[in-house]
Amino acid sequence: MDSETFDSRPIGVFDSGVGGLTVLHECLVNLPAEDFIYLGDTGFFPYGSRSLEEVRSLAFRNVSFLVERGVKLIVVACNSAAAAALPQLQAAFETPIVGVVMPGARAAVQETRSRRVGLMATEATVRSESYQQALLSLDAGVNVYPVECPRLAPLIQEGDVFSEEVEEAVRQYVGPLKASEVDTVILGCTHYPLITPMLRRLLGPQVSLVNSAEEIAREVGEILERKGVGNRAGREGGYRFYSTGDPESFRRVGARFLQLPIREVVLWETRERASLAATDER
Ligand code: DGL
Repeated sequence: MDSETFDSRPIGVFDSGVGGLTVLHECLVNLPAEDFIYLGDTGFFPYGSRSLEEVRSLAFRNVSFLVERGVKLIVVACNSAAAAALPQLQAAFETPIVGVVMPGARAAVQETRSRRVGLMATEATVRSESYQQALLSLDAGVNVYPVECPRLAPLIQEGDVFSEEVEEAVRQYVGPLKASEVDTVILGCTHYPLITPMLRRLLGPQVSLVNSAEEIAREVGEILERKGVGNRAGREGGYRFYSTGDPESFRRVGARFLQLPIREVVLWETRERASLAATDER
């Protein structure tokens, strides 16, 4: 990129809640010159237990929100949203949109030696079969072992990450992966990087973990470079937050995901609150 030209527009990132802050963390660490706008849809968390249609419609309104704020690139940090809606979003909007599924699948295919790859993710992500299709499109001979982990993201978000309850849930979910003798496991949910030590211990040191947050941050850097839309090198970028749920609890819970200061969080009061409330009570 010509060092004189730069694109000062921010990058938009959205997630079903605070989990995508693990993705923003990787972006902030690897791309310090960029500005970011993060939208956490905490009022509608979790996405994982919703139908694919619901997740898709939430993803569309999140992207519209970010487009209205003049972003140059959108990162779908949420695995459930990327799995349910990424191709439809890319087809519908002019702004470039990237999501977490393909970068993680690519890393897993490169990493595995036995070609036995495990996937830990929400029900929505597993049901969409996006990871399975992405893996098979990269290596048609790979064997994929998906495990739905419905309890994990809510437990990690709400409680003590290092509790025995989380450990017990992890033990239950890694059981089938150990039985399948996978040598690589994709952490297909924004929350799982927080429990990496527990996963390493219970899966064993011979199993490689693919962190989809790290992989997407790498891809964002490559896109900025190739399109020539990076911000001015050497500057210190800023980052700001919107949430659809209580901003104070976003700030409190979010800090341990971001591992950087969270200053102001602005509440976005969306119109869907009433219509989706019925769904929340299922
Ligand atoms: N961001 C979501 C994901 O990666 C967290 C879980 C959820 O919303 O159910 O799938």
